[in-house]
Amino acid sequence: MPNTNPIADHVAAIPPSGIREFFELVQGRTDIISLGVGEPDFTTPWHIRESAIYALERGKTSYTSNLGLLNLRESISHYIAHFFGPTYRPDNEILITMGVSEALDLALRAIINPGDEIIYHEPCYVSYSPSIALTHGIPVAVECNSQMKFSVTAADIEAAITEKSKALILNFPTNPTGGTMTREELQAIANLAVKHNLIVITDEIYAELTFEGEHVSIASLPGMQERTILLHGFSKAYAMTGFRIGFGCGPESLIAAMTRIHQYSMLCASIVSQEAALEALRNGEEPMMEMREEYRQRRNLMVNALNEMGLTCHLPRGSFYAFPSVQSTGLDSKTFATRLLEAENVAAVPGTAFGDCGEGFLRCCFAAGFDQIEEAIERMARFVDNTKKG
Ligand SMILES: Cc1ncc(COP(=O)(O)O)c(C=O)c1O
Repeated sequence: MPNTNPIADHVAAIPPSGIREFFELVQGRTDIISLGVGEPDFTTPWHIRESAIYALERGKTSYTSNLGLLNLRESISHYIAHFFGPTYRPDNEILITMGVSEALDLALRAIINPGDEIIYHEPCYVSYSPSIALTHGIPVAVECNSQMKFSVTAADIEAAITEKSKALILNFPTNPTGGTMTREELQAIANLAVKHNLIVITDEIYAELTFEGEHVSIASLPGMQERTILLHGFSKAYAMTGFRIGFGCGPESLIAAMTRIHQYSMLCASIVSQEAALEALRNGEEPMMEMREEYRQRRNLMVNALNEMGLTCHLPRGSFYAFPSVQSTGLDSKTFATRLLEAENVAAVPGTAFGDCGEGFLRCCFAAGFDQIEEAIERMARFVDNTKKG
């Protein structure tokens, strides 16, 4: 019997993104304050935009090398060595991609054989589980909780390891929880990766948006660089989501395998965006630090207010997300988010969009203006009050 479904089974099996599903409800509605989209409210700093314009004026409209512009790879190599620790060779250990999204997809496609298990921690970025499934891998979620401020323990990861385990995805600071890890906690996970011969894919897209203490990359720990693919990009800290520039750094063999896929699928990232990224690394540190300071103040405002209104929320050390519990209201995540939207026109994402263990939580993005956050908080407090009064 021929299969008449034009859509491949493994694609048809992928559920719609919980974020998209929720934002269908927001479409076409006015007077909404959105704490929903995980995107900086800042426009890309002017000097970076200007460098893109200037690149066009100079006729930079061609393909680049599959790996990306060499001078950008050289700048990335310096930047990563300076901020993250490890040194990568620009000629064969760095691949420039269309955002971290593409780099993640390439990394998974490069390493997964059908049936390989890929472990990741949940609640997590919405792409991980579908991206694994789309490459015929098996997603294995390890749950994190609010008592641990959404860090993940080596013991919990070890309990999920089987003989089919191929790789571990880490994302610290975490979308959607703002969870971070100490050096010691990461060291324990690094030891596990070595013991069980796991590849580590570390998505550190929020690294610069660490508000207190150091950001530690697992790639910088002893014995890890040779088994780690470090993913990073310009979307968040440099407010460059629309430029679609990210990169993967790792051992030559893994970067070569990723490049083999990239050269036949994407060919190269946009040259205009690569020029803009080059400018971001040349002169972007100060504006980036100014944005981070803004986010820090907004975080403090939002997290204090959430706790005051009875939505218990840990102080996220990184990212631009607060992840309060809504359990005190007696509502589940989706009901809370839907009713908040209906009653007060405030959009925030139900925690379940990021995995089942996000039940009871809400993701509130504080990459929104101060005034917007203040207004959203006032409306949320009123909603919580009214809900508790019944
Ligand atoms: C954890 C995480 N990784 C990757 C991405 C995708 O980033 P990019 O815009 O570089 O594709 C996001 C975007 O929200 C994210 O939160």
